[in-house]
Order: sequence, then structure tokens, then C-alpha cells
Amino acid sequence: MSMFPAPPDPRRPVDICVGIQWGDEGKGRVVDLLARDYGIIARFGGGDNAGHSIEVGDTKLALHIVPSGVLVEGTKLLIGAGTVVSLRGLADELDTLAKLGVDVSRIVVSSRAHIVFPYHAALDKLLEKQRGGGAIGTTGRGIGPAYVDRVGRLGITFGDLAKPEGLASKIRQALIAREPLFAGADDVPREEDVVAEALAYAERIIPHVVDDVAFLHDAFARGERVLAEGAQGTMLDVTYGTYPFVTSSSTVAGGACTGLGIGPTTVGRVIGVAKAYCTRVGGGPFPSELLDERGERLRAQGREFGVTTGRPRRCGWYDAVAARYAAQLNGLDTIVITKLDVLSGFERVGIVTGYRRGDGTPCGIEGMTDPDLRVEVEEHPGWAENIRGVRRIADLPASARALLDRLAAVTGVPVAAASVGPERSALAV
Ligand code: IMP
Ligand code: MG
Repeated sequence: MSMFPAPPDPRRPVDICVGIQWGDEGKGRVVDLLARDYGIIARFGGGDNAGHSIEVGDTKLALHIVPSGVLVEGTKLLIGAGTVVSLRGLADELDTLAKLGVDVSRIVVSSRAHIVFPYHAALDKLLEKQRGGGAIGTTGRGIGPAYVDRVGRLGITFGDLAKPEGLASKIRQALIAREPLFAGADDVPREEDVVAEALAYAERIIPHVVDDVAFLHDAFARGERVLAEGAQGTMLDVTYGTYPFVTSSSTVAGGACTGLGIGPTTVGRVIGVAKAYCTRVGGGPFPSELLDERGERLRAQGREFGVTTGRPRRCGWYDAVAARYAAQLNGLDTIVITKLDVLSGFERVGIVTGYRRGDGTPCGIEGMTDPDLRVEVEEHPGWAENIRGVRRIADLPASARALLDRLAAVTGVPVAAASVGPERSALAV
């Protein structure tokens, strides 16, 4: 089964899968489904702030850093140069997977990816505290500070792990540069502890470190195809998202090129993933949010609690203004709608189709940060049936089919498939 409208083009071996909302769209399960058509699944950004849950048979996995194709045998998994990765997080995930009988030698990490150290997580929490009421609501994993160090040329890469002397002195330098920020904080990580921990993990991680550019381009030369797996979602992109309530990386499809060392001419198709409704964790604008019992019902029926932090997610209707913007930013060919089953039992299902400023004038995505923003909601009849067993879009209740058609129309992109339950097979095409 293919979710793409066009067959693969052998000259364009890379396809990209991205979330088009605020993360947690269900990219993990879509990538898991697509994975068998690719030799390599590659993460191009983010770190263990991500949380992907996949269910296959009795196996339920919550992954944070290893790409979601890991449960499909034979695929290789690359944690690309655009990512920032905690040594402990990676080592723990390798252990968990190895215990499940997964061959973890298939998992490699770019020598150019940056290491997230405990001092990054400490800084992340400290900065959030200082932001007070304006807190971003980060995952506290140190992602932002690690990217700051990367562009500030204070970062330490996986390639550095192989050079213990240099590693210790780089850690010292990074900590000295951070001293003023840590002033007055308790729990400042100590240099010798950071170095000792890094060296302890180095032995375990070094066998997985590769030159990602050679790794990918050698694979292309062998005729292998690559699926670039996005993390977070388009609306959390550091440039195009709801800044400053964003993550610190490029989450849009273009980020796959800079985050994996591939040219745009290698990219074939771009698939977007969106929930049939919308969620967001953390602070920041969310125009279609439902603050009433309908939002609570979406949270309960959709089990909308963060995989990484356990926080309840804010819930609301599908936002077509944001989705159209995401279609432009990513150059989407197609979308997969996830969690359609969560809407079962709603008498009426909303889609936000427009924004208006406080004074009533219509506006586009640029109005999103207007505190008085109002939304135009289009209401559609719901369905009472349990749709979890449906495997063909044609067999869905008429109102569910009509909703999918409407989602495609308001987004301006065809819908390839809809997920109707958490298991791998629960997909209507
Ligand atoms: P950070 O990525 O930890 O710096 O958090 C920045 C913002 O992105 C916060 O609003 C987080 O809740 C959000 N965020 C980060 N990773 C994810 C994710 O995987 N899913 C959903 N939201 C995320
Ligand atoms: Mg998630």
C-alpha cells in the first residue's frame, strides 16, 4: 500500500514525512507503516523532546530519539546531523530495544549531531523559571540550550566522543561560558561529573557513530531509498512556527535537507501527518482550542497526554488556516489524517476555517498571536458508529467520509489515508 499519489522516482530517493500541526500528530505510526519501502529511516532534527508511540502486536513502545522505523526488520536508522541527542537518552533507548530483541547495530548517529549534556537540561529549566508566566512550556530536556551552543560554536558533537582529551577541555570551556547564567542556581552540574559521565557513555555509543554524509550518499549509490522522519510539528518550527513558543529546530520539510546533508534535488515526495482535530502541549497561541467539555472529551477519548512529559495536551478542532500554511511551508503532496476514531460519538465536529481580529476584520496566519483573535468554525455532523475495524475509506460512515473530503478541500491537499485506532493495522485507505 502506498500513501503517496505518485510512484517513486529513482532519481529522487528521499521522501519526507512531517507533522503539520503542533507535534504529536502520529508521525511515528505513519513512519512505521511506510518504513518497509525504505532502506534507511532518518531523523533530521530535534532530540529526546520528541515522543513517538508505536504499537505492534503486544509491543508498545515510546521512543524519543531512535527513528520510528525501528520495529521494521532490515531498515537502518540514522539519527542525523541536525539532531541534538543526550548520551544517556540514547544509551537507555538502545538498551530498551536490545532487551526487546531488536538488532541495535542498525541504529547509527551522525558524527555531526550535537550532544545534549546535563547542563543543557539544567539551563533549560532555569530559563523557563526565569520566563515566569511567559514560560514556553519546554520539555525540559535541554534542547534549546544545546542548539544555542551549536550556533554559538560551543557545542560538542558525537565525533568529539572519540577524542577524550579534547572532549574534557571542550566541556570545561562550555561550562565556563555558562557560569554567569548559572549564578545563584542550585544544582549546577559539576565539570568532573559531566566529563566522567560522557566518557562512561562514550564506549557504548562510539560504535554507532558514522559519517552521515557518506552513509547516506553510499546508500543512494546502492539504490536505497530514504525516509526522512520529522519531529515535533510545523507550527513548532523555530522560524515559521508560533515564535517564541516553538522548539529550537527546523521542523519543516526543508529541515530534512540541512539536517541530513542532502540536496533538495534528492527529495521526491512530502507526506504530512495531521490529527482529525488538533492538540498542543506547552504555552503559546492555539486559536482552535476548546476550553469547554468538548476539549476535555477530546483529551479523554484521544488519551492526549504527552509521551515525553505526561502533561495533558490542550485540545481543539482541526485548524485549516494553520494546515494551509503548513501545506505551503512543506510543499505537501498528501496528508494522512490520524485518530479519526477519536471523533466517534461527537454530535457535531468542527473545523476552523478562518480567523478574525478583535475588530472583526478577517486575517490569516499572521493574526495568530492577536490576543483577541476569534475563529470561524464550520460544523459538520458526526457519527455514532465505532469505526475502529474499518479498513477502507469507502466503508466509513457517510459523515466521516464527508469530513475527510472536507479536510482535504480546506487544506488543499489530498487525504491518502486515515487512522482509526492505535494498532498498526488500524488504517483506512
Ligand atoms: P522544547 O522542544 O523542549 O524546547 O519545547 C518547546 C516547545 O515544543 C514546547 O511547547 C514543547 O511542549 C513543544 N514540544 C517539543 N517536542 C514536542 C513533541 O514531540 N511533541 C509536541 N510538542 C513538543
Ligand atoms: Mg509526540
